[in-house]
Amino acid sequence: MDASLFQSRHEAFIQQAETSLRRLTPAATARPARLHGAMRYSLEAGGKRLRPVLCLASAAAFDAQADASHAATALECIHTYSLIHDDLPCMDNSDLRRGRPSCHKAHDEATALLAGDALQPLAFELLATGYASNPSLATALVRELAVTAGSTLLVGGQTEDMGGLAAGATDDRLEFILLGKTAAMLSTSFAMGAMVGGASAADVEHFRRAGRASGIAFQLVDDLLDLTADAAQLGKPVGADAQNGKFTFAGLHGVEATKQRIEALTAEAIGHLQATKGDTPFLAELVRRMSARRT
Ligand code: IPE
Ligand code: IPE
Ligand code: MG
Ligand code: MG
Ligand code: MG
Repeated sequence: MDASLFQSRHEAFIQQAETSLRRLTPAATARPARLHGAMRYSLEAGGKRLRPVLCLASAAAFDAQADASHAATALECIHTYSLIHDDLPCMDNSDLRRGRPSCHKAHDEATALLAGDALQPLAFELLATGYASNPSLATALVRELAVTAGSTLLVGGQTEDMGGLAAGATDDRLEFILLGKTAAMLSTSFAMGAMVGGASAADVEHFRRAGRASGIAFQLVDDLLDLTADAAQLGKPVGADAQNGKFTFAGLHGVEATKQRIEALTAEAIGHLQATKGDTPFLAELVRRMSARRT
């Protein structure tokens, strides 16, 4: 896909994600303002908006008219909660997020914990409300996101991530962490978008697998950036994984093997996208850029 066409479509999807986020989440001044202010602080801190963009673009790949705004916002709510909690002193103890003080630094720990708590039911409220006119779609979306955000995937991955290298360096544990803490949400972003767009069950599955492969690659890049980027560019601390004794693919297998796996996973993801009836050149280009990203 032509670079300038990609750029303009990407910017339009980001714009749509940001507008939906502002429109569909409570104002910072709503009571209790201490809570809503903290939720908005983290939601509006920026970030790449990758999950909502993937969701919006996946829906548009099947039906240009499909409105995936509620699903996209729900995904960003869950993602943002996971970052707020991930940064807490009892987790990764990180003071910088999206180029600003982490939620618990700008506010306080209790407020950050509660802001993360409140973002979770908000995500499901958005799905139930946004797709009320199509109950079977609403149910499928709620189930999809609940499973992904739950104890076997997102929270499960975060759980096995705790303890780092010291908790045992097996390939099996590493794959569980990669899928759970990161790839599951990216996989679900593709799948929810495809579902809203009315894709067939087979095409939803291809999108899910594309997201799983590119999602694992995404975390491998995240781990490489922690080794090589600078904090100002990244908007979060670097060298934090080594400092926290984290268990990463790059740490276990080295930088070269990590780069090779990122390339193979990216090709796998694009293969799944191309196997569908969807209009996927934009998504394929986005997946390519995800593997080459610097932030
Ligand atoms: C950070 O995700 C957490 C990981 C899963 C690696 P992003 O890199 O997508 O963070 P934002 O949303 O752009 O801040
Ligand atoms: C991201 O893992 C996982 C989630 C936030 C769910 P990291 O701990 O590597 O993410 P960053 O590097 O803090 O963004
Ligand atoms: Mg973490
Ligand atoms: Mg972290
Ligand atoms: Mg990281």
